[in-house]
Amino acid sequence: MDKQRPEQTLVLIKPDALKNSLTGYVLSQLSEFHTGLRFAGLKVVHVSKMLAGEHYSEHRDKVFFPSLIDYIIGRIHYPDEPWKHRVIAIVYQGPDATKKIRDIAGPTNPHIARDEKPGCIRALGTVVPIKEAGGNVIGDRMDNLIHASATDSEAEREIKLWFKPNDIPPLMHAYPTEVSDTYYYFKDNKLYPNHEPGSMCFLVPGDVAWRSDLETLRLLNQGHPAPYSLEAVVAKHLINEKQDNQ
Ligand code: CDP
Ligand code: MG
Repeated sequence: MDKQRPEQTLVLIKPDALKNSLTGYVLSQLSEFHTGLRFAGLKVVHVSKMLAGEHYSEHRDKVFFPSLIDYIIGRIHYPDEPWKHRVIAIVYQGPDATKKIRDIAGPTNPHIARDEKPGCIRALGTVVPIKEAGGNVIGDRMDNLIHASATDSEAEREIKLWFKPNDIPPLMHAYPTEVSDTYYYFKDNKLYPNHEPGSMCFLVPGDVAWRSDLETLRLLNQGHPAPYSLEAVVAKHLINEKQDNQ
């Protein structure tokens, strides 16, 4: 671990863990006593389709993607109770954070987790067949209780996706930040430098933002390709906002 940059990783306590009252169990498995890791950020999130899609963007073309989005949004476990659509998002910090938490989480597939690593968190999950309209099984959805970043670069992308710098104590920031010197507005999946009727202002001059987000916005404003998508920059600013409350 770079001395200048603390190692951080993202954990999501998914809707199946919330429904089965396993939050306390997960938190105690990951506690500082067991892992040596500390909380750097923590929030209860009503997950929007935009945030879910960005979080799992690498799986966009997979057969299980639509079902995975419904799962992480909370629709699978709380079909008639949208107010219970939540995950708990946590940033943990400390030496080998990503590896330690992946080890305690265990293999992605709960059946394999039970076989290969009894006692790991994901061994308590389930595998649910995904059926197409005709009733044929076309894949599996794995309800595996927690998400844990797989690598340090995924951890950086995911922490910046779910958290604003000011959600994390300033002395625990792991990635460079910068103060915005301009306004940015968002409407209908487009970025605007000036107010448009019905747009949402998500950054104002003086706001502290991830430097990579401001770089992305500057490039997008100029019509250039950028390191992150507009949705990945904006989604964190819409977390728990009423207008994104689908
Ligand atoms: O979460 P992890 O990084 O271990 O696995 P992944 O391969 O990146 O998949 C992300 C998530 O998609 C998993 O945690 C599962 O919840 C889900 N998944 C699924 O529902 N069905 C699959 N066949 C594979 C993954
Ligand atoms: Mg993964």
